[in-house]
Amino acid sequence: MTGLPQAPTTPPDEPFGLLADWLPAPDSGETPVMTLSTTGVDGYPDARTVLLSLFDGARVHFHTDSRSRKVVELGVVPRATVTVLQPEAARQVVITGDVAPVTPEEALAAFRNRSRYLQLLAWQNDVGTAHLAPAERRVRWDAFDAAHPGPLDPPPTWRGYALTPVRVVLWEGDERGPSTRLAYELERRRKNRERWTWERWAG
Ligand SMILES: Cc1cc2nc3c(=O)[nH]c(=O)nc-3n(C[C@H](O)[C@H](O)[C@H](O)COP(=O)(O)O)c2cc1C
Repeated sequence: MTGLPQAPTTPPDEPFGLLADWLPAPDSGETPVMTLSTTGVDGYPDARTVLLSLFDGARVHFHTDSRSRKVVELGVVPRATVTVLQPEAARQVVITGDVAPVTPEEALAAFRNRSRYLQLLAWQNDVGTAHLAPAERRVRWDAFDAAHPGPLDPPPTWRGYALTPVRVVLWEGDERGPSTRLAYELERRRKNRERWTWERWAG
């Protein structure tokens, strides 16, 4: 991982090279956590932790359950911010953009990349289970696990989304000096006439 280009070095024209450098490579199998912020149906922000399933070089993918609040919220306002914190590297990436469903092939590939535990969770994580006592939940979990010993397919409720950035803010700390922040913004002048601009921000 390279550091953020410090003044007077001119940063790259667009943020995707830096993102590719800071986020896991597509074939790494790594799925770090990130905070996914959406606009709640009441207008207040909403946020929760999800796995960063994939950065494909242009979009950030995440996966969830079709019955979740975030899916309802994204159906109303298909925009979100993801915050990826890397405390060990003193780094933070905040990416805001437009959210759209991934293809069925992409959603299936992400499910296959999940651990058996997370695949079982995708099948079992429903409101009915949420209302059961812990002992009953484990009985139900074990019964489902035993009844499906082979590879699991995704449940019908499995959903994948990809966020296409319009703003990317990269933050890097320096224990001996001020932190560095580089903010990229997508300028949409006319249809098919887009370009990225950047600024150095304090903080
Ligand atoms: C470490 C961690 C990872 C998580 N990963 C996911 C995930 O990839 N997808 C997901 O839908 N929920 C994930 N969750 C659960 C969410 O934080 C959240 O509780 C759930 O998605 C329901 O959110 P919603 O009601 O706001 O839609 C994760 C939680 C934690 C603590």
